Amino acid sequence: MTTRRPCIGVFDSGFGGLTVLKELVALIPDADYIYFGDTARLPYGSKSAETVAKYAVGAAHYLEEHGARMLVVACNTATALALDQIRAAAHIPVEGVVEPGAQRASVASKNRKVVVIGTEATVTSHAYLKALDARGVQAREKACPLLVPLVEEGWVEHPVTEQVARIYLNEAFANGFESADALVLGCTHYPLIKPLLHRVAPPHVTIVDSAESTAMVVSKVLGISPINVPESDERRQAPRLKFFATDSVEKFRRLGPRFLGHPIEDVVHVDLKE
Ligand code: DGL
Repeated sequence: MTTRRPCIGVFDSGFGGLTVLKELVALIPDADYIYFGDTARLPYGSKSAETVAKYAVGAAHYLEEHGARMLVVACNTATALALDQIRAAAHIPVEGVVEPGAQRASVASKNRKVVVIGTEATVTSHAYLKALDARGVQAREKACPLLVPLVEEGWVEHPVTEQVARIYLNEAFANGFESADALVLGCTHYPLIKPLLHRVAPPHVTIVDSAESTAMVVSKVLGISPINVPESDERRQAPRLKFFATDSVEKFRRLGPRFLGHPIEDVVHVDLKE
């Protein structure tokens, strides 16, 4: 009989954290996952730290009560603004996305200069800047608020998205940051436009996806080394996925697969009290 790994709770403001879940499932297929998308209250990226912390702590409690034995805060904004409060409120280990992304960028950047893109709230918190500074890396943080709605619209290869990304990145890789050689995707939605960002970013730049980096950190915490991840699909145990959403279940089923990469069935509506 095979034993399954403990249930991993994944939390995000909405659909975007499914990009993190996708990477987790790829590295740790033999786990149960419960995903909480606070779709009724997104976006978090334009909200205050107090509000985000209140919502995030509520979601963390919900996931813990529903069986999570480890919590992954997939939302960059919630990690940047509220990781300490979530850790203090939870009784299980909690991983965020900022430290893994910063660690990966510090390895990737030879020039010790990095550009981080994220929501307004993530940038204003300077969470990435502090995490990179602690590793001796200079960071330029750039808020790219228009990219989230464009990705949710499904415009991942659209000329408008390309034009918007070009304006943001031209501004970020300027005024002393021309030599920055890593670009951190500090928002759950950006992995969907990775090919577009590759085209638009200066050619010498390495893209660091904090979803991938976080999945690697979580697999390490669980004692899984990459060589132990089964290659063939037959040897993998199928992950068990269950989803909770605070807004329309139908909308979650419709939009979620764009982020997760496969169909979503088991979605339950949750009404969290304030
Ligand atoms: N999940 C958020 C993040 O990674 C983006 C969407 C939002 O603003 O809620 O920062």
